[in-house]
Amino acid sequence: MGTQGSDEQGRGTRRRALLGAAVLGAGGAALGVPGTATAAERHGGGGYRSLPVPTIIGHRGASGYRPEHTLGAYQLALDMGAHVIEQDLVPTKDGHLVCRHENDITGTTDVADHPEFAGRRTTKSVDGVSFTGWFTEDFTLAELKTLRAKERIPGNRQRNTLYDGRWDIPTFEEVLRWAEREGKKRGKEVWLHVETKHPTYFRGLGLGLEERLAKLLRKYGKHKKNAPVFLQSFEPSSIQRLNKLVDNPLVVLLSSANSRPWDFVQAGDPRTVADLVKPEGLKWIASYAQGLGPTLDLIIPKDASGKLTRPTTLVEDAHDAGLILHPYTMRNENTFLPADFRKGTDPNAYGDVFGAFQVYFETGIDGVFTDNPDTGLLAREDFVNG
Ligand code: G3P
Ligand code: CA
Repeated sequence: MGTQGSDEQGRGTRRRALLGAAVLGAGGAALGVPGTATAAERHGGGGYRSLPVPTIIGHRGASGYRPEHTLGAYQLALDMGAHVIEQDLVPTKDGHLVCRHENDITGTTDVADHPEFAGRRTTKSVDGVSFTGWFTEDFTLAELKTLRAKERIPGNRQRNTLYDGRWDIPTFEEVLRWAEREGKKRGKEVWLHVETKHPTYFRGLGLGLEERLAKLLRKYGKHKKNAPVFLQSFEPSSIQRLNKLVDNPLVVLLSSANSRPWDFVQAGDPRTVADLVKPEGLKWIASYAQGLGPTLDLIIPKDASGKLTRPTTLVEDAHDAGLILHPYTMRNENTFLPADFRKGTDPNAYGDVFGAFQVYFETGIDGVFTDNPDTGLLAREDFVNG
């Protein structure tokens, strides 16, 4: 592992910067994290610039402990203190936006146990990949609401199956109402990080996501520059479309270096993610977005054995372009950690996730998506307090 201990100077400099900023007066007191620096102190400005850095984003809620994208998972993430809670959005047949990671709901709901929907099982090509199952766009909202959510990866997270069937599929409007309620109760805005899933695919079905999302954000007054809602997508054209509809902070997600966003594939744009992380690509992204959501491997690549190598220049290059970075995804289990942070031989046991968080934080990232917000917050305290 070439990063741990090899960047002492950078780590010391960063910690001094964070602690120095805290002396100037930080927003961290509300989190109970002494020495917290905010992006506002690093970059100036309000809105997302006022979030603590590094920002801990509850990935699909607290999905390490509850079935993902349920109000139970979102509530737990918020109760744990996550700074931001993530939603992935797909549409129903009648045009409602619901919170699911995929339109294929076979793995995260009990749809297979509903004989009345047996005839809806079908095979589709989504973004060039074939899936067989049940799909949100073939169900009305009323029909989807008869289903119950369940744990996506019971083999890894058996304990979470305790909560199978407890919650339904939330609509994004329900989440907006929940965030408003919780914000009032806490006297502090609840931040969301909202992803449009498969936007080109759904536009082709007459179910464009961006206009529906913008309409809902406007209805709840969450469409403004300083509104507590990030919008994110793997398809840059979705972010460009949102840029014309609302003023929220926008984040372009980046998959592996050799991949191409699906909208690029459809439009014949030959650029890959490797092109987008070059200074020219970053400048192009910064012309319509405020941030990047790269896979962690774009920050620190792994070698053939799965161990971390040296960080790339992406953090520095993105910051130079004026972009913040919210990479994904940290998870506590060995199987999801870099090989050098695994402990023991059980893939589902927890590894040295605190160690892994430190190495990623030391690169200068502005935040991170994690299935385990409580772990991320403690790791953040370790980092900020040196
Ligand atoms: O949106 C950030 C991260 O969630 C991207 O990955 O596949 O979990 O949506 P995914
Ligand atoms: Ca996501």
